[in-house]
Amino acid sequence: MSTESPHESLDALLATWPTADTVLSIDVQQVNHHYGSGEMRKQVLFDNHLQVRAGEIVIMTGPSGSGKTTLLTLMGTLRSVQEGSLKVLGTELFGLGTAATTELRKRIGFIFQAHNLFESLTAFQNVGMATELLGIPTSEAKPQIEQTLHRLGLGQRLHYRPKALSGGQKQRVAVARGIIHRPGLILADEPTAALDAESGREVVTIFQELARQHQCTIVIVTHDNRILDVADRIVSMVDGRIVSNVLVKRNQLLSQFLVQIELFRVLSTSALTKVADKFDLQSFPAGSEIIRQGDVGDLFYVIGSGQVAIEMDGQQVNRLGPGAFFGEVALIRDQPRNATVRAVEDARCFVLHKADFQTILQQSTSFEEELRKAIFSRQ
Ligand SMILES: Nc1ncnc2c1ncn2[C@@H]1O[C@H](COP(=O)(O)OP(=O)(O)OP(=O)(O)O)[C@@H](O)[C@H]1O
Ligand SMILES: [Mg+2]
Repeated sequence: MSTESPHESLDALLATWPTADTVLSIDVQQVNHHYGSGEMRKQVLFDNHLQVRAGEIVIMTGPSGSGKTTLLTLMGTLRSVQEGSLKVLGTELFGLGTAATTELRKRIGFIFQAHNLFESLTAFQNVGMATELLGIPTSEAKPQIEQTLHRLGLGQRLHYRPKALSGGQKQRVAVARGIIHRPGLILADEPTAALDAESGREVVTIFQELARQHQCTIVIVTHDNRILDVADRIVSMVDGRIVSNVLVKRNQLLSQFLVQIELFRVLSTSALTKVADKFDLQSFPAGSEIIRQGDVGDLFYVIGSGQVAIEMDGQQVNRLGPGAFFGEVALIRDQPRNATVRAVEDARCFVLHKADFQTILQQSTSFEEELRKAIFSRQ
C-alpha cells in the first residue's frame, strides 16, 4: 500500500468539505407551504430540509409545478414562512417582522423569471435602483454599474429603456441589478433561460466569482443543462419535496482522490460517485486514538491527510499515510477491532459507515476481492 500522497485535488476537497463549524447561509427545516384558503387550500411544499453553506452554488431542478419558485420566494422573504423554520444569512424568517424583513432583503439579490424592470428607466437606472435602495447614490456607484453592464454585453445599451431591449438583454439587466450591491445571497429563477450560450456562460462565471471571492451563496433554479457544471450541490424537487440533494463538486473531487487508490479503481465511475456521496470527513489531532483494539467497529477509514500508527498489543506494527485505508477487518469479519490506530500527526480521514461499506461489498465482487488481497498482504 502506498503511503505517498496520491492526489492533487485533495486540498480543494478538504477546503470545501462541510464540517460542524461551517457557516450556513440557508437552513431549511421541516418547511411546509400551502396556497389558498378554505376548500381551495392546497399544500405545495412538504417537509423540506436543506442546508447550504456560505459561498456555495446550488442548482435546483425539478418538473414544472414541483415547488421550486415557492421555496425560492420563501428563502427570499417574498412569502411568509407558514410552517417550519427557515434561516437565511443567520436570520430566522418564521415570524420575522416587517422592519427586519426589509433589512434582510437588502442583503439578498433577486433575479426572477418576470424581470420586473421599470419601463420608464434605462438599463443603467434600473441597476442604479438597487444601489439607491442601499443608500448609495447612482452617481457614486456609476463605475461599478457600467462595468457590470459591460461585462454582461450591454455596454452599448446602457441608456436604453426595457422596451428597446430584447428578452435576453432585459434578462441581463435583471442579472446586473440582482448582483450590483454584492449581496450575501443571490436567488435566481431561470437566470439563463432566455440567453444564448455565451451570455449564459458569462452570467454563471460572474456567479462563480461572487461565490469564490465574496463567499456569496447562490441558489439557481434552472432546467439549463449547460450550466450544471458550476453547481457545488444539485437539489431536485418533485411534488413539493426535495427528493435528492447531492454535493456534486465534492463527490467529483473525492472520486478523483479515491480512483487513485487501487482498492477503489475496480469500481465503475457511477459506483464510485455513489460511494463518494456516502463518505464523511473526520479530523484527528496528533496523538489521538482513531480506533481502539477490542472495540466494536462500525467505520471504514481512508486517510486523506496526515500519518497514523497501527498498534497491536501495544506494539507499533505499521504506519500509514494519505491514500491508505484501515478498519475493514472488523467490518468484514464482524469481529472486534484487531488493532489500535493512532494519529501520529494531525490527520483527516474519509469515513464510511458499516452499512454503506457492506452495500459496496455486496454490489462489487471485485471490490471484495481487492480488499481481501490487501488484508492478506498485510498479514
Ligand atoms: N400564487 C399561487 N397560488 C396558488 N397556487 C400556486 C401559486 N403559485 C404556485 N402555485 C402552485 O404551487 C405549486 C408549485 O408551484 P411553483 O411555482 O413553486 O413550481 P415551480 O417548480 O417553480 O414550477 P415551474 O418550473 O413551472 O416554474 C404548483 O402546483 C402551482 O400551481
Ligand atoms: Mg418556477
